[in-house]
Amino acid sequence: MAVAKSLPHDAARLHVTGQARYVDDIPMPRGTLHLAFGLSNIAKGTISSMDLEAVRASAGVVAVLTAEDVPFENDVSPAAHDEPLLAMGEVHYLGQPVFLVVATSHRAARVAARKGVITYDQGEALLTLDQALAADSRFEDGPRIYQKGDAGAAIETAAHVIEDTFEIGGQEHFYLEGQAALALPQEDGGMLVSSSTQHPTEIQHKVAHAIGLPMHAVRVETRRMGGGFGGKESQGNALAVACAIAARQTGKPCKMRYDRDDDMTITGKRHAFRISYRAGFDTEGRITGVEFTHLVNCGWAQDLSLPVADRAMLHSDNAYAIPAIRIESHRLKTNLQSATAYRGFGGPQGMVGIERVMDHAAHALGIDPIELRKRNYYDAPSEASVDGGSAPRSASAPRDISEKMKDNTTPYGMEVTDFELHAITDQLVASSDYDARKAEIAAWNAKNDRMKRGIAFSPVKFGISFTLTHLNQAGALVHVYQDGSIHLNHGGTEMGQGLFQKVAQVAASRFGVDLGRVKITATDTAKVPNTSATAASSGSDLNGMAVKAACDEIRDRMAAYLAEYHQQPVAKVSFDGDRVTVGHEELSFEQAAMLCYTGRISLSATGYYKTPKLEWDRIQGKGRPFFYFAYGAAITEVVVDRLTGENRILRADVLHDAGASLNPALDVGQVEGAYVQGAGWLTTEELVWDGQGNLRTHAPSTYKIPACSDRPDVFNVALFDGQNREDTIYKSKAVGEPPFMLGISAWLALSDATAAFGETYPHLNAPATAEEVWRRATEVAAEVADGV
Ligand code: MTE
Ligand code: MOS
Repeated sequence: MAVAKSLPHDAARLHVTGQARYVDDIPMPRGTLHLAFGLSNIAKGTISSMDLEAVRASAGVVAVLTAEDVPFENDVSPAAHDEPLLAMGEVHYLGQPVFLVVATSHRAARVAARKGVITYDQGEALLTLDQALAADSRFEDGPRIYQKGDAGAAIETAAHVIEDTFEIGGQEHFYLEGQAALALPQEDGGMLVSSSTQHPTEIQHKVAHAIGLPMHAVRVETRRMGGGFGGKESQGNALAVACAIAARQTGKPCKMRYDRDDDMTITGKRHAFRISYRAGFDTEGRITGVEFTHLVNCGWAQDLSLPVADRAMLHSDNAYAIPAIRIESHRLKTNLQSATAYRGFGGPQGMVGIERVMDHAAHALGIDPIELRKRNYYDAPSEASVDGGSAPRSASAPRDISEKMKDNTTPYGMEVTDFELHAITDQLVASSDYDARKAEIAAWNAKNDRMKRGIAFSPVKFGISFTLTHLNQAGALVHVYQDGSIHLNHGGTEMGQGLFQKVAQVAASRFGVDLGRVKITATDTAKVPNTSATAASSGSDLNGMAVKAACDEIRDRMAAYLAEYHQQPVAKVSFDGDRVTVGHEELSFEQAAMLCYTGRISLSATGYYKTPKLEWDRIQGKGRPFFYFAYGAAITEVVVDRLTGENRILRADVLHDAGASLNPALDVGQVEGAYVQGAGWLTTEELVWDGQGNLRTHAPSTYKIPACSDRPDVFNVALFDGQNREDTIYKSKAVGEPPFMLGISAWLALSDATAAFGETYPHLNAPATAEEVWRRATEVAAEVADGV
């Protein structure tokens, strides 16, 4: 069977030889026009005059469009209708598109776009969380609050109370392929659009509105992205809509791609958070209550900020059964790029909060941080619930009274029935030699003043499903041709994560054929309609199931016909080893396909899937938003230099739960990449805006993503040997986002090393850049000197 095999990415050869075709590589008809935006160079204000004569006169310019030239709806937002393609009188951030240049070359368009002379009545820009809070500038009337029990009372009566406030920075997606789109006008006013997008249906929808036609007039195709990471869920809308409007106006194919600096200046990033916490613990380190306040910097437009901030709240418990919890979330509106989806979708920020609490408490109580975490974990499922996951916890088997009796429900009222972290943690602690290394590090630190090493653990429990329940659906279209070759299409998009290969493995397995028979094809809104973004890690869960349904439909039709043809019961037909067996007859798969074709059997089918068991009220914060949880854990060791703050990851050990993996090689790749990206977010990747709202880190020279050399020197990554307790595609689990949060262990390890310079718990912010580590190391060292 093709599933569960470690096959390479289907396009690996194309990627490494440079033959993989991205939007910018698609051969274009002669006369194709190129687009660039003229951008606002202030963060807030009203446009008082716009002189675009020099732009129009610039070499190669064919047209210049402003908001007044937009023929229909001037909006590229994913939902809230608050994001004009081109500014309408007001600008809300530095980098906002104000006018659109259509020219004969990419360069001509960019050169001309710099020549606009715009004057503004400057307003007062809100750039920071404090400014937004003071101005009560927000996307909802007030904060959203989820709670369980009386956290305040629990904390008041707790044996130990800890509290702090810290910052978590945003993150640039830094997909290698920048945003890009092209539009080819069709004979009847329709558009064929190619877009580097995670969400072709949304591009179709936005383009249709922009050119005043129904969705059927727009077809969107996406073969692959050179990375998306959430940054292409909504941020590609502007380019595709601009291309379609320009193509409609000029009658020519139009293409747009952002140069890297423009991409970083224009598009939204991960949400920056400030998290305040107050937590109560008993003397054994069991948490009794916790309060979190999230201040979320959403930027100027709503985009996906509400569900992102919700998901942060939904991951504030992470792996811990917290008896009383209160989470208050403020979604603040500022004059910065509109923050958007980014791997983990708010989950990472929420998780950083509780993991910080756990380490802080362990430090305060002098308990090993892993031991303390284990005392607070949700319970493992009882045997009764091992199959099916939803079986009631056995009431007839009384538990040892001394064993903690936990309420195994999350703050939002969902029963945790698949908690794998006890086993994962024990296995990882053993395989990473944690106890011995921790002792060795303490001994080493005792002998070294300038350098200190640190080690830390962090677990992940990540909820799988879109919290907007209706998005949890998918479709597929499968054809078997008369020569036995198979055309595979589904609503998911490929961004490097290996979705297409995994789903092709599912298709090959359902027909029992070699993978070579299956042709992976570009995502196409004309083949599978009404798709959701490939996001929330659910690409293979959703599309894998839809493809399975389509394949099984065709296979069952083939089986019925072949059984009848050979006068055998259907039960005697099997598909395996690239052959079809009917009783004693053996057919090659192409013979079987040809026979069915001449027997007038339809060899094409659609498949459809919707995730079961979901029920979620986001206003109350109650229900079952997730089908299941994905788990993982990491232990990271670092070393820091007291005098410079410079630091390195020396070793990382990861054990991650991908269920029964559809493709272990691809899943390990996801885990490795996610860990490094997560560690990068919390360590070296720092976004810096100046006091005018100008993003100063808009290129790789100033924004430091991890390089190859930043990969941990020792990097042991393994998949947990388990299977999904819920009925997912071949019992696999989603893997795209969950391991991102394993990078939290790198940040905690830096905190641990920093703490070793003194006795107090460091007020470490994220990202823990060398400067930040230096600052905090200096602080804790000074506190010892002062005798604090
Ligand atoms: N892996 C690669 N190589 N490139 C990407 O852009 N995006 C991540 C993750 N892994 C991404 C990636 C994000 S944000 C998500 S939601 C998932 O992949 C989406 O794909 P999936 O649902 O098929 O896992
Ligand atoms: Mo991923 S942030 O859900 O695209």
